[in-house]
Amino acid sequence: MAEAAWWCDAVLYQIYPRSFQDSDGDGVGDLVGIRERLGYLESLGVDALWLSPFYRSPMADFGYDVSDHCDIDPLFGSLADFDALLAACHERGLKLLIDLVPNHTSVAHPWFEDSRASRSAEKRDWYIWRDPAPDGGPPNNWTSEFGGSAWQWDARTGQYYYHAYLPEQPDLNWRNPAVRRAVFDIMRFWLDRGVDGFRIDVVWHLAKDPRFRDNPVERDPASGRERQVRLYNTDRPDVFDYIAEMCEVTGAYEGRVLIGEIYLPVDRLVDYFVRKGGCEHLPFNFHLVLKPWKAQAIGTSIEEFESRRPADGTPVWALGNHDVARVASRIGGDQARVAAMLLLTLPGMPTVYYGDELGMRDAEVSDANSQDPLAQRIAGRGRDGPRAPMAWSRRAEWGFTEGRPWLDFAANAEEANLAAQRRDPCSMLALYTALIALRKSSAALRRGEWRLLQAGDGVLAYELSLQGERLLVALNFSNSERTLKTQARQADLLLSTCLDRPSPAQEDGVRLRGNEGRVLSLGAA
Ligand code: NOJ
Ligand code: MG
Repeated sequence: MAEAAWWCDAVLYQIYPRSFQDSDGDGVGDLVGIRERLGYLESLGVDALWLSPFYRSPMADFGYDVSDHCDIDPLFGSLADFDALLAACHERGLKLLIDLVPNHTSVAHPWFEDSRASRSAEKRDWYIWRDPAPDGGPPNNWTSEFGGSAWQWDARTGQYYYHAYLPEQPDLNWRNPAVRRAVFDIMRFWLDRGVDGFRIDVVWHLAKDPRFRDNPVERDPASGRERQVRLYNTDRPDVFDYIAEMCEVTGAYEGRVLIGEIYLPVDRLVDYFVRKGGCEHLPFNFHLVLKPWKAQAIGTSIEEFESRRPADGTPVWALGNHDVARVASRIGGDQARVAAMLLLTLPGMPTVYYGDELGMRDAEVSDANSQDPLAQRIAGRGRDGPRAPMAWSRRAEWGFTEGRPWLDFAANAEEANLAAQRRDPCSMLALYTALIALRKSSAALRRGEWRLLQAGDGVLAYELSLQGERLLVALNFSNSERTLKTQARQADLLLSTCLDRPSPAQEDGVRLRGNEGRVLSLGAA
């Protein structure tokens, strides 16, 4: 059998560079800081890191507005710091993925400065320019993910440009082959330096309807409000050609992978497993975040995904990221332990968002201290909460910086800091470390066949099997005791979320305490 690609067995760890470790006292995390903390990541047992953007940027969207894709913003360091970080990762056997932002650039990017200079500019067609509608308004009804019309009027040239996100983030015109070539050159720049792949920002947005048809508007049954269905500006058929081309570029290098950020229902998501030219593109599955935290809803969603995805496609799971409230804030600290067990016992590549392994909750940032520019534009949409700096030690500013941190710490930093977590044998950190170690020891956990089991109210239970190895995972989503009826009499406890040795499986099944999850061995198939 051919050796499996590294991502089939890897645990990915997302770092938001602003918030991991500051090395120069400016209060903002940086690349040297990340390098200083690699020992910690190695001891946690993760296999690969993904860094959110560190490119040159005016920071209208904290780096997702790139003005130079081939340089490091001085806030984060230099190209030499990047090379040193990459080399240090590889020395420790860690893979390094970086964020590729190909859908849009910053308004300050030289490409856009050229494009907006005149209607006949060389790069005019590199972005999406349209005449106003007959009434002088925007060319169509498309709305931005950040609210309001997605069209920005440009008085100098008398046209609108399209932006799926902020007006400071104009969308590139992917229909133009010169744009695609330019993005592929950027990919090669980093692949040549040795990165192990890319997380691709908003990949389902790349292709837009060439006829710019209006999106349908429907009434949301839940809220009763009207909402736009993004039928014509996202998830268009051409996007698969673009992804295939990116695969071809990446496939020229050994062992690299592409992971796309995609918010779509499961039946659409599964089309985003693309294999081309010796490279794979894998879609992020965010349904553990999007679905209500209920055993049945989560179980059904995983089952749908597992039954539809290609057998040779590696799922990529996440409980959170820098755009959504942290898992411990969404579902509470007790259930966050159950969620950790779920994440790390699903086949595929689990993604740990930095700090979740310490049980970090969101920062409670007052309006006066808010940093996310989105908060200034749309009340209630700020994303500061999940971006709080890591708390490492009892030192001032939790050892994150010698200066003034750019953002408040998590509301529960007193417990959710590395020093406190290391002292407590039952801490969230101990649980994550044990789960990752268990996953390393079991091929069934990493790549087994997943089968949903019938379980009582509030319990999610599934079996994983691979080449004779059989495991049972039973997760109690409720806070009271539950018994999972199972035939598996000889089930052996491998790990409880409580990290103790509770009573063994009973004759009548597996007894779970409130908020408890267990992994059990069912022996040979
Ligand atoms: C998704 C990123 O995760 C988010 O932080 C950003 O604002 C948008 N893409 C736009 O790039
Ligand atoms: Mg710094």
